Amino acid sequence: MCGIIGYIGSKRALPIVIEGLKRLEYRGYDSIGVLVYDQDKKEVYLEKQPGRIQEFVKTAQLDKEGSLAIGHTRWATHGGVTKVNAHPHWDCAKKIFVVHNGIIENFQVIKNSLVEKGHKFRSETDTEVIPHLIEEFLKQGLEYKEAVRQSLKIVKGSFALLIFNSDYPQLLVGARFSGPLILGVGDNEFIFASDPTPISLITKNVIYLDDGEVVFVDKGSYTIESFLGHEVAAKKGVIDFEIKEADKGDFPDFMIKEIFEEPLALENTLRGRLILQEGRTKLGGLEMIEERLRQIEKVVMVACGTASYAALVGEYFFEEYAEITTEVDLASEFRYRKPIINDKTLVVAVSQSGETADTLAAVKEAKEKGALTLGIVNVVGSTIARTVDAGIYSHAGSEFAVASTKAFTTQIADLVLLMIFLARERKMSLVAGKEILGELLELPEKMRSILLQSDKIRILAEKYSAYKNFLYLGRKYNFPVALEGALKLKEVSYIHAEACPAGEMKHGPIALIDENFPSLVLAPKDSVYEKTISNVQEIKARKGKVIAVTTIGNQELERLVDDVIYIPQTLEMLTPLLSVIPLHLFAYYLAKKLGRDVDRPRNLAKSVTVE
Ligand code: F6R
Repeated sequence: MCGIIGYIGSKRALPIVIEGLKRLEYRGYDSIGVLVYDQDKKEVYLEKQPGRIQEFVKTAQLDKEGSLAIGHTRWATHGGVTKVNAHPHWDCAKKIFVVHNGIIENFQVIKNSLVEKGHKFRSETDTEVIPHLIEEFLKQGLEYKEAVRQSLKIVKGSFALLIFNSDYPQLLVGARFSGPLILGVGDNEFIFASDPTPISLITKNVIYLDDGEVVFVDKGSYTIESFLGHEVAAKKGVIDFEIKEADKGDFPDFMIKEIFEEPLALENTLRGRLILQEGRTKLGGLEMIEERLRQIEKVVMVACGTASYAALVGEYFFEEYAEITTEVDLASEFRYRKPIINDKTLVVAVSQSGETADTLAAVKEAKEKGALTLGIVNVVGSTIARTVDAGIYSHAGSEFAVASTKAFTTQIADLVLLMIFLARERKMSLVAGKEILGELLELPEKMRSILLQSDKIRILAEKYSAYKNFLYLGRKYNFPVALEGALKLKEVSYIHAEACPAGEMKHGPIALIDENFPSLVLAPKDSVYEKTISNVQEIKARKGKVIAVTTIGNQELERLVDDVIYIPQTLEMLTPLLSVIPLHLFAYYLAKKLGRDVDRPRNLAKSVTVE
C-alpha cells in the first residue's frame, strides 16, 4: 500500500505533489512526508508527520520553491506510526532520499551487514536500508546510477521506489518490482505516481513500468533499464479515461454516496452488454479469446475480501446455470495450495482496484501454469487489468471510500454477464438467458426502492449500536452476502461480526448466542427459506435477537423475529444484488452512530499492494 509521487520539471513541484498525495491518500493514511529540492538555493526541504494530508497542509511550510519534489502517504508495515518512520528515508550523509511502497523482505539481513559497516539507522522501517545501501556502493567507488542498479539487484520483496540524491539534483529515479509505478511524460516535465490520478494533473501521456525496471529521469529526458542495466523500450499509453475528482456531492461521506450509487453503477455495468432477444451478452473484452473460452473445463476465481465474496456468489450461479466446475480461491492462499490448473482452466481475477498484490500474484501464477486469465476490474489501466489475457471492466465509477460497496454489486453483475456468455455457448436455453437478462434490467429500480428505506435502516442500526458482537447468517446465494455484511460492519464500526452459512451455525457458532449477541439473518423467500427459518427458530429458542432480511409480502417473520427489512422479489440467483444493500446501509449507519471515520477506517487502505 502507501502512495508515492515524484515531480521533476519546470513548475513549482510542491503544490503538485501535495495535490497528488490527496489523490493517493486512499492507499494509506498513517503519515505523510515530502521532500522539495530548491535548485537555486541548493537546499533540501523535508517535512514529515504522522496523520493525514488534511492536517499536514495546515502545519507544513508549503511555500517552498523548487521544481523537484517527492512525496509519500504511508500505510505502516515495518515500524509504528511515528514521524521518524514516515518517509522519505535517507542515508548517513543525508543526501540520498527514498520513498517506498511495498516491503523489502530481506531488509534485516541487509541492515545487519550495513550496521556492521558503520551505517547509522534512525527508523524501524525496511525502507531505510535502500538509501544506506546505495551510499555503501558509492563509498565502494561505484558511479551513482550503477550504485542504484546494484542496490535494486540486492533488495527482495515488492517495491515501487523513488530515489533522489542531492548530489545529482537533475536526476530522479523510479524503480518497480511488484509494486505499482507509472511515469507521466509532459512537456519538459515528468511525474511518477502509484496510479494515474495524480499524473493526470500534468499529462495524459504515461509510461507503464514492468517489474524489474528502473527509470532515470535525467536532465529533461528519461531512460528505462532492467535492473541488470539493459535498456528497455518504453510501454507508452494514454490516460483515455475520465479521472473524477473526489466529490461527496450532497452526502456527508463517500461511503453513503457510493451505496446510493449502487443502482446507477449497475446500470452502467449493464449498458450495451445485453442482447435481450438472444438471451446473450456482448462483452467486447472477450472477443479475442472466444475460441479458448469454448474449450474451458473449469473456472477458478481469485480475489480478496469483498471481491472474493462477489466471486463466491458467482461460484453458485456458474455451477447452477453454466454447469462449469467453479471454485473460488482467496488470492492470498492461492499459491500455497498448489492449485491444479492448466490451459483448460479459466482463472478470473476479481478486483476493484486492479492493484491488490495477492490477486496479482495469483494471476501471475495462473499464467505461468498456462491458464487463460480474465480480469473483472474496476480501475481502468490498473496492473491486473494490464496483466490478464482479457477483461471485463466493472464500470462502478471511482470508489473513494475505503470500504467497497458499489464495486461489490457491479462485480456480481459482471460475473452474471460472464456466466451467460459462457452458458449460452453451452447448455443454457434462450428462455433462461432471456429471463436472467430481463430481470437484471429490473434490478436498479428494485435497489432504489430499498434505498428509500434508508431512514428505517438508520433507526434500526442506531437501536443495535450498543451491541458488541453480531452473527450474520445466510444460505446458498446469500451466504456470501452474510460474509460481506459482517466484513462491512467490522471494517467501518470496529464491532466484531462474524458470518457463517446458516446451516453451519449448529456446528459451533450457536454457542455464542444469547440475548447480547444479535444475528442478522438473510431469509428471502427462496429455495432454502424454510431451512433458514429453522435456524432463526434455533436462535430465538436461545433468546438471541434477530434482524431478518426477507422478501416483500412475507409477513410471517414479523411474529418470529425482532426486526424485519424487506427487499423486492427477484430471481434467487440475483438476490445478493438486493439483499446486500440493507447490510451496507446497516454497517454505515451503525458506524456513524459510533462516530467512526467511515471513509477512512483505522488500519485500512483502499489498495492493498503488499502480500
Ligand atoms: C472491503 C474491501 C476489501 C477489498 C479487498 C480487495 O470493504 O474493500 O476487502 O475488497 O482488499 O480489493 P480489490 O477489490 O481492490 O482487489
